[in-house]
Amino acid sequence: MKKDKIVIFDTTLRDGEQSAGVSMSVEDKIKIAELLDSMKVDVIEAGFPFASQGDFDSVKKVSETAKNSIICGLARAQKRDIDTAGEALKKAKHPRIHTFISTSDLHMKYKLRMSKEDVIAAIKSSVQRAMKFVNDVEWSPEDASRTDLDFLYKSIETAISFGAKTINIPDTVGYSVPSEFSDLIKKIKDNVANIDKATLSVHCHNDLGLAVSNSINALLSGARQVECTINGIGERAGNAALEEIIMCLKTRKDLFPFYSNVETKKIIKISKLVSQITGFKVQPNKAIVGKNAFAHESGIHQDGMLKNANTYEIMTPESIGLQSSELVLGKHSGRHAFKVKLNELGYKFKSEKELNKIFKKFKDLADRKKQIFEEDIIALVDDTFDLNYNYIQFLELDVKCGNKAKAEATINLKIDGSNFTSTSSGQGPIDAIFNSIKKVVPNKSQLILYQVNAITKGIDAQAEVIVRLEESGIAVLGQGKNIDTMVASAKSYINALNKLKNKKEIFLSNNLKKSNETFDKHAI
Ligand code: KIV
Ligand code: ZN
Repeated sequence: MKKDKIVIFDTTLRDGEQSAGVSMSVEDKIKIAELLDSMKVDVIEAGFPFASQGDFDSVKKVSETAKNSIICGLARAQKRDIDTAGEALKKAKHPRIHTFISTSDLHMKYKLRMSKEDVIAAIKSSVQRAMKFVNDVEWSPEDASRTDLDFLYKSIETAISFGAKTINIPDTVGYSVPSEFSDLIKKIKDNVANIDKATLSVHCHNDLGLAVSNSINALLSGARQVECTINGIGERAGNAALEEIIMCLKTRKDLFPFYSNVETKKIIKISKLVSQITGFKVQPNKAIVGKNAFAHESGIHQDGMLKNANTYEIMTPESIGLQSSELVLGKHSGRHAFKVKLNELGYKFKSEKELNKIFKKFKDLADRKKQIFEEDIIALVDDTFDLNYNYIQFLELDVKCGNKAKAEATINLKIDGSNFTSTSSGQGPIDAIFNSIKKVVPNKSQLILYQVNAITKGIDAQAEVIVRLEESGIAVLGQGKNIDTMVASAKSYINALNKLKNKKEIFLSNNLKKSNETFDKHAI
């Protein structure tokens, strides 16, 4: 099948920024533009230069930094708008001016207060003016989907005859439906005499939730550029979401004679960046980039996924830059997924009976608790098996710290009936304490979590310290409480080391046995 390239035009920095409550700084816009540029988005609409000094600066800076993408600035059909856009785009390697004017009766009468003749004159002068600055001019008839067809054809023909190379058809108010919108594109192709001199583009808003669907249908009718935003942000209900369009074309390449150059593996990164900059959280069930888009909870689905991911996934998480799918443990999860999670945490049960015992406890917990985290499972295993034998016992701790000298800790421990003392320095008091313990009890565990909670109120509050250690796939949580945070830290680390030793004895795998052989006397 011969495939046509679809030009991906991102307007996150322009229409996306028009979302109520969103404002991006110049630095924010540069960060987003750099990532869009690196993921080979064809056109970046970097702003509306006449709208504000910030927008002008953003378009100017993005123009200076972009390496691959065409950089576009928006301008109304007015001389000062177009001149300002031309100025902001001066340094762009590939500059484009996007100029527009409304063409629907409603907009011409109430918004512009202009006649059809006035609008045609404005199209001529604006496209002509834009051509003085750049070769690449895009023109849009705002509210196209509610425009009288004959007037729409005439307007488009005028824009092309004065030099516009891209004609963008906006469904400005998200009013159109897929069959109607694709018909409109077909009609434009059939009725505008010079349409073959321009690329047809579409720009769909999502007021009825049809933006992506309208865009894809328009491509099937002959449009070859699609305008969209990351996470679908934009004016009112937003614009067509870039990630949905790109992944739809990629996933259904069997159906569509199209391709795009966008690197899909950066999708999750850009989605997170835009969400962080705008403060707009992505809804969990949002297609492609939602937290749940690759998460499976029901037992039947998890079982299918473990046997073959194609059973419940139409695209791979890796294709958008995620590490893997997630089997979310909850009350609908089955034994199979639970066992896989236990294995991931380093637990290998000797018998099915042991596994069943812990699975039953897990189900009881899941009935009471909505979200089950790895920490909950670790605690569940700790409670089920007797891990309380304290091989290492805390006796005393002395810590020197402050801003004048390097932190130093001296620890006194009882191990297997004998006392041991060791002193170590560190980057700070906690590091010094952990180093002094490690001197007596060498171990290869990694500190994954260190957390301090105040369990009573006031400045004399009891501190509770939680640490998570991992070694060769086995994870443990250690806990220590004391009025002194340093002592609580030492106790939590020792508690975790004791659990690690006990767990290794219960779940010892051949692998661990080997690495243990090289450990020192008190190594665990
Ligand atoms: O929605 C719209 O009509 C627009 C135009 C400026 C293209 O954003
Ligand atoms: Zn728009």
